[in-house]
Amino acid sequence: LEGNSDLRSTPYQNYSPAYLATLEAQQQRSRWRLGYHIQPRSGLINDPNGFAYFANQWHLFKQQFPFGPVHGLKSWGHLTSNDLAHWQDQGTALHPHSPYTTNGVYSGSALPVKDRLFMMYTGNVRTADGGRRTTQLGAWMERSGHITELAEPLIAEPPAGYTSHFRDPQLIEHNGTYYALIGAQRADKQGQILLYTAAAPTGPWQLIGPLDFGRTTLGEMIECPNLAFVDGQVALLFCPQGMAQRDCAYQNVYPNTVVVAAGIDWQNAALIVPSPLRLLDEGFDAYAGHVVNRPNGEALMIAWMGLPDLSYPSDQEGWQGCYSLARRLGIRNGRLHQVPIDEPLLGPPFAPLHDKLNLQEVITLTTAAHRSGQIRLGNAQESLSLTIDSAAQALTIDRTETGVPFALQYGTKRTVPLAAGPQRLQLWLDHSSFELSVANGQHFASGRIFPQVSAPWRMTADTGLVTAATGRRLNNM
Ligand code: FRU
Repeated sequence: LEGNSDLRSTPYQNYSPAYLATLEAQQQRSRWRLGYHIQPRSGLINDPNGFAYFANQWHLFKQQFPFGPVHGLKSWGHLTSNDLAHWQDQGTALHPHSPYTTNGVYSGSALPVKDRLFMMYTGNVRTADGGRRTTQLGAWMERSGHITELAEPLIAEPPAGYTSHFRDPQLIEHNGTYYALIGAQRADKQGQILLYTAAAPTGPWQLIGPLDFGRTTLGEMIECPNLAFVDGQVALLFCPQGMAQRDCAYQNVYPNTVVVAAGIDWQNAALIVPSPLRLLDEGFDAYAGHVVNRPNGEALMIAWMGLPDLSYPSDQEGWQGCYSLARRLGIRNGRLHQVPIDEPLLGPPFAPLHDKLNLQEVITLTTAAHRSGQIRLGNAQESLSLTIDSAAQALTIDRTETGVPFALQYGTKRTVPLAAGPQRLQLWLDHSSFELSVANGQHFASGRIFPQVSAPWRMTADTGLVTAATGRRLNNM
């Protein structure tokens, strides 16, 4: 269906309100509906876009196709929040209606500039010969929420020597100069991140060159480059497609990777002392991690808990995709740490090793040093298991038996390395998702699950493995 040209170009007004209402009702009734994560009202969501703090509230936009669980004609849906945990749906912000977006308003970012929010994003057009034309576009949002799209592209075409896989601009301001990172593919099918600069967000934009993040090419195409300033250093997040396993071992169809560096040399388009390439998330479903820097220096990220080119069991109910919790980023010992923001959602405590789970909770566990064994969350038929092998210093997450099988060709287990000693694990469950933090966010693993048996879930653990367990229910968003 991804290649279905009708869904990529049929105007939204051709879908009847009754059809949309049916899809929304199906999503509302779904047993996989999430309680406290961003999800579509109907249809599909993928990349988080335009994360910003503006006009006294948080703004987040989502790549969406509201009319089915497929990557159809994309627009930007708008969400706002006061606390990064409860999000209000503000409807569609950027519609695919200009000659530059006939086949979708693709991903991008947003940055407060004086008293307006500037949005920079990709316009996607399919040409008659089956090709593609991409432009980088701009729009202003007033404090009232009113949006004015710029009539002409900020960047009208990829530079010479590049294909039309040229998208997902991240707009950054540094000492009064503007920069944009853009995902790109060189004509020889090498993935790159291009760095542009301008004196004003409206341009004119000039190419500095491909960003050196320890290398300048990786895989066949790089999507969604995002740079964050974290604890006096920088973290560069991006999604290389078609990357060789020797560059960074991964199991998902495409990984979301991260490089940490001491800083960035803007003039020379180079990260300073870049770390090796690592996975941003060691789980099953994480992509397009999108960052924002607050004026107070804090760096936050939200990722799509989903992957391109996959089907999910919720497709049969007409919807697909959800986002991670917003996470605070930190860098310790040259590694990125992620800590989910759940404080505004915390409900009553419960006893995880005793009480039933309602699949909407956070569980905090400490395990004994030098102990191997298994923790199981589930019922007799279905369960998610976490197996600690203390000799191998590894934690294996197994979703084989969690419910409706999917994405089997990419494996149903993931292994995360552990340091020696007792382990601190935190697990956020939300009906059809889990987020697992290991060692206070030093490692992170996210995934979707689709339980189908209605028997209640409980947590059990091998004797002596868990030395402390606390739980909190989480309220609906
Ligand atoms: C990543 C991506 C982006 C593109 C968007 C379209 O998932 O393919 O590169 O802008 O999704 O929805």
